[in-house]
Amino acid sequence: MQRTSLFAPPSSFKVLDSIDFDVCAGEAVGLVGESGAGKTTLTRILIGMERPQQGRLIFEGNDVWSATPAERERFRRSVQMVLQNPRSSLDPRMRIGTALLEPMRSLRIEGDHIKRLHEVLEQVGLDKSALERFPHEFSGGQLQRIAIARALMPNPRVLVADEPVSALDVSIQAQVLNLLRDLVRDLNLGLVFIAHDLSVVAYTTSRVSVIAAGRIVEVGQPVELFTRPTAAATRNLVDAVLTVEAGLEGKAL
Ligand SMILES: Nc1ncnc2c1ncn2[C@@H]1O[C@H](COP(=O)(O)OP(=O)(O)OP(=O)(O)O)[C@@H](O)[C@H]1O
Ligand SMILES: [Mg+2]
Repeated sequence: MQRTSLFAPPSSFKVLDSIDFDVCAGEAVGLVGESGAGKTTLTRILIGMERPQQGRLIFEGNDVWSATPAERERFRRSVQMVLQNPRSSLDPRMRIGTALLEPMRSLRIEGDHIKRLHEVLEQVGLDKSALERFPHEFSGGQLQRIAIARALMPNPRVLVADEPVSALDVSIQAQVLNLLRDLVRDLNLGLVFIAHDLSVVAYTTSRVSVIAAGRIVEVGQPVELFTRPTAAATRNLVDAVLTVEAGLEGKAL
């Protein structure tokens, strides 16, 4: 980083540093950290939306940023993002059927799309009649199922979900978390679950990385992190959960 004058802003800014993060087929991994820790930046790198200035992104053995066009195409179809807040990210004037076909169009995927629509709706537990309807006709939980369906359309190997339930009522969150867990098992998907709340991530994943100030400061099984947190950032996340739980039920976990 070099400044051209004393008052010029720095020309580059290190948001992430020494990150080592991976996910396998059939595995759900979590990434948790406080606001500003670097979660969204890492998400953008994982889905190939942002190129890291250093380091590599490897998918099925290939470095994504120096891959052949065919390999890159496979990566783009295979790693799908679940929209964070479908109420605002789905076009209100677009029927759900059209919205679900959008990734097939942009990724130029051929085949029987109607059959695929029906398969995917069944996987997320929605009725075929959803295809003709508009976003405002659905509840928050149903919209999140639609967002998951949209991500599943290209038949991905990995789903990346940045705060997929943070906009939902607590009572609905568990249903969506259960759905994600079932999909990982039934479709042998890799899932990267990103959130600021350790408890929702713990419920869904078998391994969690804690990120703070752009670095992964601790990796462990959810239970270990809750019972024996080592990093200060992990302890803060555990305390935040305990405070919320105590407020809700008058007792800690
Ligand atoms: N292009 C950029 N240039 C400079 N700073 C950036 C850039 N992108 C992100 N940052 C900073 O990097 C840090 C990490 O941002 P990021 O959005 O990844 O955090 P986050 O963990 O997703 O936070 P939140 O929980 O609030 O969504 C923040 O301090 C942010 O302001
Ligand atoms: Mg974020």
